Amino acid sequence: MRVANDERAACETIGVLNEKPAFYGEPAAGIIRPMPTDLSPWRLSVAPMLDWTDKHCRFFHRQLTQKTRLYTEMVTTGGLLHGSERRHLRLDDCEHPVALQLGGSEPQELARCAQIGARWGYDEINLNCGCPSERVQRGAFGACLMAEPTLVADCVKAMVDAVDVPVTVKHRIGIDREESYAFVRDFVGAVAQAGCRVFIVHARNAWLKGLSPKENREIPPLRYELVYQLKRDFPQLSIVLNGGVTSDEQIAAHLQQVDGVMLGREAYHHPWPMTGWDARFLGGAPNPRTRAEVEAAMVAYMQREAIEDGTPWSAIARHMLGLHHGERGARLWRQIWSDHRRKPLPAAEVAAQAAAVLAEGQAQALASI
Ligand SMILES: Cc1cc2nc3c(=O)[nH]c(=O)nc-3n(C[C@H](O)[C@H](O)[C@H](O)COP(=O)(O)O)c2cc1C
Repeated sequence: MRVANDERAACETIGVLNEKPAFYGEPAAGIIRPMPTDLSPWRLSVAPMLDWTDKHCRFFHRQLTQKTRLYTEMVTTGGLLHGSERRHLRLDDCEHPVALQLGGSEPQELARCAQIGARWGYDEINLNCGCPSERVQRGAFGACLMAEPTLVADCVKAMVDAVDVPVTVKHRIGIDREESYAFVRDFVGAVAQAGCRVFIVHARNAWLKGLSPKENREIPPLRYELVYQLKRDFPQLSIVLNGGVTSDEQIAAHLQQVDGVMLGREAYHHPWPMTGWDARFLGGAPNPRTRAEVEAAMVAYMQREAIEDGTPWSAIARHMLGLHHGERGARLWRQIWSDHRRKPLPAAEVAAQAAAVLAEGQAQALASI
């Protein structure tokens, strides 16, 4: 079958004509299907992760992908209203599209925080209804809010009324042993009524007693079918699947069922595949940069941050330790960037030392061929 001229033009514009559009499944021989032009803004995102997806991490991720949506760590309403806005919300122009995740359960406080977030330029305000930590439960927010859909709806309504940017919710498929599909369906239904149009669904239950947050990301089984069913039952909503996704092939498969996919740990630990996402999934151009060029950009950022904010380079370097994952010399390179004895050195000097061990590792690999 021939590709219509306008389709070919669209394909060429976004550079996918010669790529296998895996996200559409295996095309029959000769059929080339263009990437849709109305891609969801939530098609691919990096998850909010406390202590991980801070401003520096997001800057690093932005060197790898221009179009993937990024999320902040969870910021609590108490922390924001009684602490420093700048410390919690400072962001770099390059971070967009970027969402602020809030933790809280008091509608007016959430509305005020949403307004503050919108004022700082965030493109979305997300409410955390998925965190199972006991500390968060004591504050009566996070995953335990799933038991109170009316309260979540009140929170969402207050935020929707307060800001023009989208208000979204990130949640689980259930809490404790409540495993019925009806539970999550009714939760989404109630919250959608209040004006939420985007639901990010971590496809496992949160067990509120007896498991640590880490265990709660690993032990309750993943049940993707429930997330797919949400999309079928609420076709007018954007449903984003999260949990356990570790490869482009898995992303492609999920995108056949839902509007978007969010990756957390995999993106953090093995960030380089993100350089392929803009072209493969997001209608953008391939990332032309090498790992060395990304590292050089990070060193320039470290120098700027040191001057502007007194940030030590180690607070930034810790997020990029997976940059050379899989390459010869990567382990030594990582050791250099995480060696606390080097903290007094300027970032550029540490970078030179890291580059030297990497080059040595790669030369040894070549010599052994
Ligand atoms: C270190 C860490 C911190 C996290 N902090 C948050 C958080 O602040 N807010 C939130 O909604 N989820 C948080 N999560 C959960 C992730 O957003 C995501 O839902 C979870 O890791 C499952 O996705 P994954 O399997 O792709 O990692 C955190 C996860 C990790 C590993």
